[in-house]
Amino acid sequence: MRIGIIGTGEMADALGRQWLRAGHRVLVAGRDPAKSAALSTRLGDGARAGKLLDATAFGEVVLLAVRRTGVLDVMRAVGGALAGKVIVDCTNPIDEADDFRVVTLGGRSMAERIAALAPGAEVVKAFNLCSSGLWRREPPTVDGRPLVVPFCADGFRGRERARRLITDVGCDPLPFGGLDRAGQLEALAGTGIRLLVAGIGLESVLPFAQPGPAPRA
Ligand SMILES: NC(=O)c1ccc[n+]([C@@H]2O[C@H](COP(=O)([O-])OP(=O)(O)OC[C@H]3O[C@@H](n4cnc5c(N)ncnc54)[C@H](OP(=O)(O)O)[C@@H]3O)[C@@H](O)[C@H]2O)c1
Repeated sequence: MRIGIIGTGEMADALGRQWLRAGHRVLVAGRDPAKSAALSTRLGDGARAGKLLDATAFGEVVLLAVRRTGVLDVMRAVGGALAGKVIVDCTNPIDEADDFRVVTLGGRSMAERIAALAPGAEVVKAFNLCSSGLWRREPPTVDGRPLVVPFCADGFRGRERARRLITDVGCDPLPFGGLDRAGQLEALAGTGIRLLVAGIGLESVLPFAQPGPAPRA
């Protein structure tokens, strides 16, 4: 699959690397061309760099991996070019400086706001619940057990692409309803991060690994 990646930070790097390993091709794009080029070089074979609209044109799927404060500005810039595409939204509308408050609570989720700025595109909420450190594991497991990755999507194509991209990183997809439920995943991320920061162990905060003993090697 051709995957456009918008953002050049931790999540772009971690997920881009996983999808390249699975045989996909990626084009990375951020607001700083030097960072896009550097990430593409780090990712190696199968990766290219370009501008934001190169990523939207290239990708059958476009991963949106931008900081909360930039998400809607980026969408205003590229949303019109995403008709017919699947947008994978891994963003979390969390304000770290305000005790990890989910800033969209009580209103539309970030995923729904993204969808509103991308007419004709399908938005999938996924990959927002685990840290980039976990997504860098090859495969991303906890004690050898695969992660379950809940995702929200409205359409058939979005659900199929989500299943494939989750399976391709070695995880188990879990359909979690339509995009109207994405806010639950965003709130769960905010709560989970807040608990981790309070010192609660990963195993308690992250009940997303398949139960049971680690599979035999
Ligand atoms: N890191 C995690 O563990 C994790 C896990 C799950 C979900 N997420 C979510 O995934 C998203 C990306 O996180 P990350 O850790 O990859 O962040 P990051 O390493 O800080 O990278 C953020 C990216 O967003 C870009 N950006 C920031 N503000 C922007 C703006 N106003 N306009 C355009 N681009 C802007 C940055 O560009 P510059 O480098 O030029 O500033 C950078 O490319 C966030 O929404 C986060 O909540 C993160």
